[in-house]
Parts: sequence; structure tokens; C-alpha cells
Amino acid sequence: MPRPDWERFRPPAVIGHHEYGYRSVGSTMDVAWELAEAGAAHGTCVVAGTQTHGRGRFDREWVSGDSLLASVVLRPSASTAPLLTIIGCLAVRDAVRELCGLRCAIKWPNDVQVDGRKLCGVLAEGRIYATGTTGAGVAVLGIGLNVSLDVAEHPELAATATSLLAETGRSIDLRTAGDALFASLDAWYGGAEPAALIARWREAIDTLGRRVSVRVRGSNATLSGLAEDVDAAGRLLLRTDDGVLHALDEGDVTLAG
Ligand code: BTN
Repeated sequence: MPRPDWERFRPPAVIGHHEYGYRSVGSTMDVAWELAEAGAAHGTCVVAGTQTHGRGRFDREWVSGDSLLASVVLRPSASTAPLLTIIGCLAVRDAVRELCGLRCAIKWPNDVQVDGRKLCGVLAEGRIYATGTTGAGVAVLGIGLNVSLDVAEHPELAATATSLLAETGRSIDLRTAGDALFASLDAWYGGAEPAALIARWREAIDTLGRRVSVRVRGSNATLSGLAEDVDAAGRLLLRTDDGVLHALDEGDVTLAG
């Protein structure tokens, strides 16, 4: 693991109790995985000023620039592990509200958006290690929140992304943003009761009730239909025009028409 440029401690918080900070890394995900493999405690965080190889879902490039770039080592129970993206998105939404009063919606499955533009992406990666018959799960939850990112400097993002600065005109310090995010994650993770989480997830997703196309990675197929609901595991329930209800746990959603 590279030597951190700073360390911060936030007792008595669990998530964010120990933050390793870097001016620049390849990806905070990789540093967090190194820490996790070396036995870092649940809730250990890695933040970076910039990333040279930031990644999003499906290994897509994640552009960094005046953003909160964070990864958190988590050691979830088997029932919490599938809910990490949900916890991450809901925590970001509350942190943003707390930081600047901005209301965000969720685009299923992992985007936090304002008026259809992406403000933040959440990436959950998990590994399971066999220990006898029970197994021990470790996860890294990555969050990229566009704080003062100037989307105009990134033509490929200009039409689809936004930042807190662009939305509010306010320049928020990354340290303040990190404090709000980790406090919110700590609260959401600590209080996570699955049925209540899913109820909040359903309320927050603005994809529901709309016609969408979903590109499903595993099968390489695209399904079109009505995004009816989410199920008890947070999966998207998509009714295709032939009347079949599909429960999707991943995919790229495009709003139709
Ligand atoms: C997505 O929308 O596909 C998820 C994007 C996640 C980006 C964050 S930035 C901090 C952390 N480090 C990475 O390399 N990726 C995540």
C-alpha cells in the first residue's frame, strides 16, 4: 500500500473512523482492497485528490477532477452485502442535502442525479473468503461525488454530468464533503434494516413508473418496457411488452422517448 499523504480519525464513528488520504493514486478502490486484504477494520476509508485510473461499473473510466473520491472497506453480513449500493446511494443523497440543500434522485441502479444529470456514482465490489462453512465477506464501496468538477472542461461529460458547484454556485471544501459523506454512511449502515432501506430506495428512484430500455451486461441483451417497481432485494422489476416481469440486478438504463 502506498504511504498516505495524510491520515484522519473520527472517533466514535465506525465508517470513517480512520481515513487514509492521498494526493494521487491509481484508484482508491485498489488501495482500499490492499488495506482490506491486510486486515483493515470495517469502516476504514481511502480518499484521494485525484486518480489516474479511476473506474466505474463494468470497468469504465471514471474521470476525476475536484471531486470527492472515496472507497470504504466494509465487512458486511450476508444479508447486508447485497444492499451496499443502496446504502451508498441513500447516504450520498442525505449528505448532499445536508451540505447544500440540494435534492437528488436515484437512477437505478447506482447513479445519484440532479435533473437527469449524474452527480455521483457508487460502485460496490465484493469478495468472499471461505472460512469453514460460513464464509467471510469483504467489500469495498466506492463513491465519486462531483463537488466542484467543471463539467465544461470534459466535453464527454458536459451533457450528462453535473456537480455541486454547477447546481448551487457554492464551492464546497472536499474535507467538509468527506465529513458529511462518512457521517451519513455511518448512519445508514448502522441503522440498515432491509425492509426500511428498500422502502426509502423505492421513494428515491425516479426511474420507476417510466418506460426504459435496460442493457443487461451478462446476456448482452437490451430489454424495453415499464420500470414497475423494485423488489425486496432492490432489483428493478421491468415489465416488457410481452407481459413478462423481469427482475434485474444490474444493467444500464436509458429512459425511452
Ligand atoms: C459508476 O458510476 O460507474 C461508479 C463510479 C465510482 C467512482 C468512484 S471514484 C472513487 C472510487 N475509486 C474508483 O476508481 N472508483 C470509485
